[in-house]
Amino acid sequence: MLTYRNGLDRMPTYDGTEKNYRIKVNANESTMGLPPAVEERLMNRLALQPLNRYPGEEHRSLVEQLAKDFSVDAAQILLGNGSSEIIEKVFHAFGGAGKKVVFPRPSFSMYKIYANAAESEGVPFDLDENFDLDVDAFVAAVNRTGANLAVICNPNNPTGNALTPAQVEHIAASIDCAFLLDEAYVEFYGESCAELVAKHPNLLVARTFSKAFGLAGARVGYMLAQADVASMVKKTFMPYYMNVLSLAAADIVWQMRSEFLPRLQMITAERERMRKELSKIRGLKVFPSQTNFLLIRHPRAEELEYFLDAQGIGVRYFSPTNAELFNCLRISIGTPTENDEVLAAIKNFSEVWQ
Ligand SMILES: Cc1ncc(COP(=O)(O)O)c(C=O)c1O
Repeated sequence: MLTYRNGLDRMPTYDGTEKNYRIKVNANESTMGLPPAVEERLMNRLALQPLNRYPGEEHRSLVEQLAKDFSVDAAQILLGNGSSEIIEKVFHAFGGAGKKVVFPRPSFSMYKIYANAAESEGVPFDLDENFDLDVDAFVAAVNRTGANLAVICNPNNPTGNALTPAQVEHIAASIDCAFLLDEAYVEFYGESCAELVAKHPNLLVARTFSKAFGLAGARVGYMLAQADVASMVKKTFMPYYMNVLSLAAADIVWQMRSEFLPRLQMITAERERMRKELSKIRGLKVFPSQTNFLLIRHPRAEELEYFLDAQGIGVRYFSPTNAELFNCLRISIGTPTENDEVLAAIKNFSEVWQ
């Protein structure tokens, strides 16, 4: 008989298989390929990349580049297979039996799962009805529960709103435990807290190449923290865990990151255009967003999702078990043409269901 680790049978399985949508705006990816100049340089680089050796120089080179551009020591940077791996490892580093992890609700659904996987207790802290965080109440909850780790996603997925760096700093200064700030969408907001790491030894900042830099398929993320913290979290990783192809891709993308600026501007402008247009639809609420997606609430959200799906448009619907996100859909911002189609389809649906 096979006997599995306690609790494994109760863990959810993340199903990564996706439908082949014509317009895929359900996972906050970039809907565009790499900028042509970046793609050309990357293809040339990959053609020359040896695969017979374990990654060494490629890993070091990306770490050093990030460290230089953030004006930190290389020992303060940790890479991961997507920021997912970093977040999971941080939960392992600060979790364990009897340890508590506090995070807002609704937020990134994986926090609860990583807390369970690290055999710690996930303690959700509810956002208000506008999905705003009461910062002082959050601090009080972290301190009252004696949490070992607090996690905030800024800007928040799936609600889209953001705390200011001053609010983040206030939290870092007011809690006496590790504080992981997940900045997966920060490039669309523009207000990173990475530099606060120098002042706050409890702060760890996770970032990703998956969203603004269009490398979701390569799986590369990174973390900034003080050197002693990074070196402890590093112990949870296996040897040679990054692959050279993804490291090379991230290296080129980071070097050429200015090529992404026009599309970042396009996405934020499109987000505001979509927000204004969607707000005109009767009965539909659009939440403010500092990200590459919009959260909307519609009285017939489930039917709307089916309607969009039937037209090859994939959006994210939150199941009714997710009470605080009832009737909510999350729609990533695509190209102007994709956005026009999504908008027209939602308008059509709303006219039929008036
Ligand atoms: C808030 C947040 N954090 C982290 C991730 C993980 O991203 P990745 O592992 O691709 O870096 C996601 C992905 O959707 C996310 O929304």
